Amino acid sequence: MTSDMQNHPALAPGQIGRLHLENRYVLAPMSRASATEDGVPTLEMAEYYARFAQGGFGLLIAEGAYPQGTLSQSYANQPGLCTDAHQNGWADIASAVHKEGGKIVLQLIHAGAVSQVADQPKAPSAIQPQGQMLQMYGYKQGPYAVPEPFSEAEVLDVKAGFVQAAIRAQKAGMDGVEVHCANGYLLDQFLTPEMNTRAAPYGGSVENRIRLTCEIIAEIREVCAADFLVGVRLSQAKATQPDYFWQGGAKDAKIIFKAVKSAGADYIHIASEIKGYEYHCTSTDGTKLTSFARDVTGLPVIANGGLNEPELAAKVLSENEADFLAIGKSAMVNPDLPSRIASGLMPRAFTFDVFSKGVSIMGQREWEEQTRLLSTEA
Ligand SMILES: Cc1cc2nc3c(=O)[nH]c(=O)nc-3n(C[C@H](O)[C@H](O)[C@H](O)COP(=O)(O)O)c2cc1C
Repeated sequence: MTSDMQNHPALAPGQIGRLHLENRYVLAPMSRASATEDGVPTLEMAEYYARFAQGGFGLLIAEGAYPQGTLSQSYANQPGLCTDAHQNGWADIASAVHKEGGKIVLQLIHAGAVSQVADQPKAPSAIQPQGQMLQMYGYKQGPYAVPEPFSEAEVLDVKAGFVQAAIRAQKAGMDGVEVHCANGYLLDQFLTPEMNTRAAPYGGSVENRIRLTCEIIAEIREVCAADFLVGVRLSQAKATQPDYFWQGGAKDAKIIFKAVKSAGADYIHIASEIKGYEYHCTSTDGTKLTSFARDVTGLPVIANGGLNEPELAAKVLSENEADFLAIGKSAMVNPDLPSRIASGLMPRAFTFDVFSKGVSIMGQREWEEQTRLLSTEA
């Protein structure tokens, strides 16, 4: 295994848009609830992200930042990107990552109906999300509220919020942004017929339901530099409905993938939370969504879900199912994952004990000091 690992296909260089990447390992976006109360990213976050660049990750996708005040905010201590102070905090992070030779894209995420912060959440339609608010993340708890539907004018404000945040991300020195249309958050609520009973232009057909995401991508593409990446994250599963699959299978997937490509996306990132890549990157009609996205768009595809496992990762890359691997939980205990694989070392095992002192960076640091996990090679 050791010599195989040193020739692992994830160690080959790659390219997204005009950005050259040293290898195929991408840090998956992970909310660490470590910003100040009013959403300003901290120097502690800059150190945290720099650690993944030092460890050799080809690209980092920083955790979802909210683009439009508390209405768009998901959790307590989530970072935002709608004020100068937010922008300056992200500039420190981009600079710390670049100093280590890394590349960094920032995810932009609007909570919509699943906000644990807004007094009255707003969403495509007045439909209560299933499940309970996420306990680890603070502020409100219990069942989600019934959201108020956005007016047509407010939908335009949402779009403007994403575009302004992308402009700020570029000013902060980020290499790009990732538009979050996944996991049951606002743009995915628009895409999901059970959450969106609106009429045209943003409800009805799948073309209409993906329209807002596409308009956001297209406007960002228009106002930002040509070498500034604009990616999109999609998923079948939702935090609120882990067993959700796209109703129209490959037929809908083709429309969605082609639409985001025409809007100007540089890459497609397909998330597979909880049940992993094989389960959630496959549609109900048996189509592997990652390779299908590559085939119908020609765009680079980032796959996600348990791809820290070297054999599965090698299969995904060598069988051309995807071009890049986004590593989530395992990266928390393997910030040096690419360097480890290059040295023939297996990844350290992730355990949910990492969150025993809370989901924040500080909580993890306390846990690391207690377990000394990262100072051993076991
Ligand atoms: C603590 C935590 C925070 C997360 N925050 C985000 C986020 O901000 N945006 C997002 O799109 N996904 C988020 N995710 C999902 C991950 O990006 C990823 O899809 C998931 O962990 C599955 O990948 P893995 O099997 O490599 O962990 C989060 C996951 C975890 C565990």
